[in-house]
Amino acid sequence: MAEIVQAKVFRYNPDVDKEGHFENYEVPYVEGMVVLDVLHHIYEKIDGSFAYRWACRAGQCGSCAVIINGKPRVACRTIVDKNKPLTVAPLLQFPVVKDLVVDLDRGLDRLAKMRPYVTRVTKPARPEIISKEAIEPIKEVRECIECWSCISACPAVAEAWQQFSGPMYHAKFARLEFDERDVEDRVKMAFLEGLYKCTTCRACVEVCPKEIDIPGKAIEKLRAVAAKTGLGPLPGHKEYTTRALQSGRSVDKMGASLLEMIPEIIHGNIARVKDARDTVGYFPGCLTDYRLQEVGKAIIEVLIRNNIEVIVPQEFACCGSPLLRAGMVDEAKENLVPKNVRILEELGVKTIVTGCPGCSMTIKNNYPELIGRKLGFEIMHFSEYFAGRNDLNTGDMKALNLKATYHNPCHLNRGMNAHDALKNVLSKIPGVNVIEMEESDRCCGAGGGVRAGERPISMMMARRKGEFIINSKAEACVTQCPFCYIQIQDILKQMGYQQIKVYDLADLLAMSYK
Ligand code: SF4
Ligand code: SF4
Ligand code: FES
Repeated sequence: MAEIVQAKVFRYNPDVDKEGHFENYEVPYVEGMVVLDVLHHIYEKIDGSFAYRWACRAGQCGSCAVIINGKPRVACRTIVDKNKPLTVAPLLQFPVVKDLVVDLDRGLDRLAKMRPYVTRVTKPARPEIISKEAIEPIKEVRECIECWSCISACPAVAEAWQQFSGPMYHAKFARLEFDERDVEDRVKMAFLEGLYKCTTCRACVEVCPKEIDIPGKAIEKLRAVAAKTGLGPLPGHKEYTTRALQSGRSVDKMGASLLEMIPEIIHGNIARVKDARDTVGYFPGCLTDYRLQEVGKAIIEVLIRNNIEVIVPQEFACCGSPLLRAGMVDEAKENLVPKNVRILEELGVKTIVTGCPGCSMTIKNNYPELIGRKLGFEIMHFSEYFAGRNDLNTGDMKALNLKATYHNPCHLNRGMNAHDALKNVLSKIPGVNVIEMEESDRCCGAGGGVRAGERPISMMMARRKGEFIINSKAEACVTQCPFCYIQIQDILKQMGYQQIKVYDLADLLAMSYK
């Protein structure tokens, strides 16, 4: 018998329907078929009035983008998984014309106002020779096919599109700013279009058919120019970036720091264990050292309970993420990065573990480019480390009896590509009933300097996350990022749900070992 794809597809006919609805279709499965084939089948064999867009069928025109199983994707490049139900809906942020066809005018009009072409004051020579070197910085952002998937995926656009035009537009600003022929001030345009409202969550990268790294290749590059011309960083960034440069920590100390407690906790700076299965270095990061010391202690305890030797450096500097995300690249590169590289390489271990995804992503993704060479160690997030080892000591754990949902931090999930690490480890704790919330991977609004610099939009994103947590009916929300942890605690309190406990994953693991 032929295999069947169960497809749930959005339908809306403005002539007869008050609102849209989903209809179920059974479509014969063909090996290697893409979602566009499913849509073709519905149109050709089931209902000729079904409306959807496509043109090239080759991932080049951008016209077939729709929401597939909750994420925007181009239908012609999305392979159908015959073992999973398929849901197809129109792109978000645009009014639906009919079925899957949306009216893109509001996006196109806004784009036209930005003069998205090379603006010149002189006539170019003929032939005009553009060097390879001149193209290199804009090569990736030039790949955009205007499919609008990133606009549909962006959590900041979802809250306030008027304030933040979104990833595709900023890719275009970068393409023109770093094109030496263009004479417009694209950084100023980007600034006015919400340059500092991007949380660097990488949701746009995840859905982009061309895999354009918009936060890295557009937003942060534009912010770096903004910081040099005085447009950035924002007032809210100045306090912590100045503090990071002056004291080596981006936040003020509350009580004794974790590093001050270390000699007592582990009797020196190395926790020796019998029959050690591994030896790792531990990089606490600013927030764990100065504010969330208990989380730091829990991380060390869990490593020890897993027979893993831990070396804690006697000093370190802020990883530089707060500066890099705000555009202060030179300052981070000169003052913070070399110190950390020296300290961490001197530990002489193969692996450095951290509980902060911001630190791990920055060290992994930014440091090699900033120092011009590979690092002498591998940096891993704590969840990623244990998910990868697959030998978590569960034998010594006691059951916790907790109904918990989890928030997957953007910089762990998409920044480190450790997509399932947090859930993987959390699910192994006995007695924890893991409840999926809606969009556990949706940004909480804390990252990219947005919580500090653009608090109103940050809290809008947090509120949506808060609603998902509350709707999950869980007793607790588990995450593993100091910024997400603080942001989620704040919003649940603001929403009157402080009874929902927020845990760092390490806290919960340490509790189960008690
Ligand atoms: S990184 Fe996140 S917030 Fe920034 S543009 Fe992309 S989707 Fe939007
Ligand atoms: S940046 Fe990528 S996702 Fe966004 S419109 Fe361009 S091709 Fe599509
Ligand atoms: S049909 Fe052109 S990108 Fe899919």
